[in-house]
Amino acid sequence: MRTIFWEDNLVKMIDQRRLPNALEILTCRTHIKVAHAITDMAIRGAPAIGVAAAFGLALAAQNSPAQTPAELRKELELASTLLKSARPTAVNLAWAVDKVLRFTFSESESLSTEALRGRVLTEAQRLADEDVEINKRMAEHGSTLIADGDTVIHHCNTGALAAVDWGTALGVIRMAHEQGKRVHVLVDETRPRLQGARLTAWELKQYGIPYEIISDNAAGHFLKTRQAQKVFFGADRVAANGDVANKIGTYMLALAAHDNDVPAYAVVPTSTIDLSLATGDLIPIEERTPEEVLGLQFNGERVAPANAKARNPAFDVTPNRLISAIITENGIVRPPYEVNLRKVKEVI
Ligand code: MRU
Repeated sequence: MRTIFWEDNLVKMIDQRRLPNALEILTCRTHIKVAHAITDMAIRGAPAIGVAAAFGLALAAQNSPAQTPAELRKELELASTLLKSARPTAVNLAWAVDKVLRFTFSESESLSTEALRGRVLTEAQRLADEDVEINKRMAEHGSTLIADGDTVIHHCNTGALAAVDWGTALGVIRMAHEQGKRVHVLVDETRPRLQGARLTAWELKQYGIPYEIISDNAAGHFLKTRQAQKVFFGADRVAANGDVANKIGTYMLALAAHDNDVPAYAVVPTSTIDLSLATGDLIPIEERTPEEVLGLQFNGERVAPANAKARNPAFDVTPNRLISAIITENGIVRPPYEVNLRKVKEVI
């Protein structure tokens, strides 16, 4: 099953807030509901929220009472602004929205309002299909880096749930497994929202890949004691110099890997590379509600004292010097990233 799909003129998605305890489908009838689903993390993961926003635009076009192309364009631009503001860090969101708008209105002078509505859905559907194909290509490239018998540490959820299918870093691991390599995964639980313990573990179970969940702060121990040979994660945005913004905790994991000469790989579609930002310092970092940190329970009771305060950055930036290679659908990129990311992004 795909994480997100268009069916009966509606957008449907796996509600990731309910996993692993229930596999429920959330139905969205309006682009506003799609924007909420992204903000509330019913759907999350950089490629998945890009495709969700694209389908959101298709709903906006379908529901719009516009009588003329100009009216439709105005409405879609408003919908785009809303969808793009749902989450700030993953560049795929704005990338997908802009791509749909560009396709819909390029060389469109002779097209009717109805034909333009159709174009929005066509492009959203194409982006969804392309996402799966791109992820498989990344998985093929990345799987060459995994040796038979490897134990790898994986952070956050980067699998099918974070995309339309297959995903990024977890797709690489899944491909290696399907190629017959024995691979064991140490799954960072990924505080505070536990995407690893809830979603990655659920996916690995479906694929029959052996895994163990570890607390995030155990990763350094496994690297230092040579119990893990590689580290894999995805990214929400990669700057032109190869700095990688990804789920909070990635930086500490990459530091520990580097200190122990263990390679750390970022797996990203080229749509996640943002050449307009020279360094990772310029990437906007989402700060989410403190309740995600404070709401943790132990023995059925909240851990934090009443009225405790918390900080909750959802992402951090790992400097390029800690990244051994960046795996894309167009190949494996190694330093110097300033030069080589541009090359891989420009492949047609
Ligand atoms: O806050 P999330 O769950 O959307 O964060 C997701 C990640 O950090 C992933 O690692 C990232 O999107 C890349 S994998 C598709």
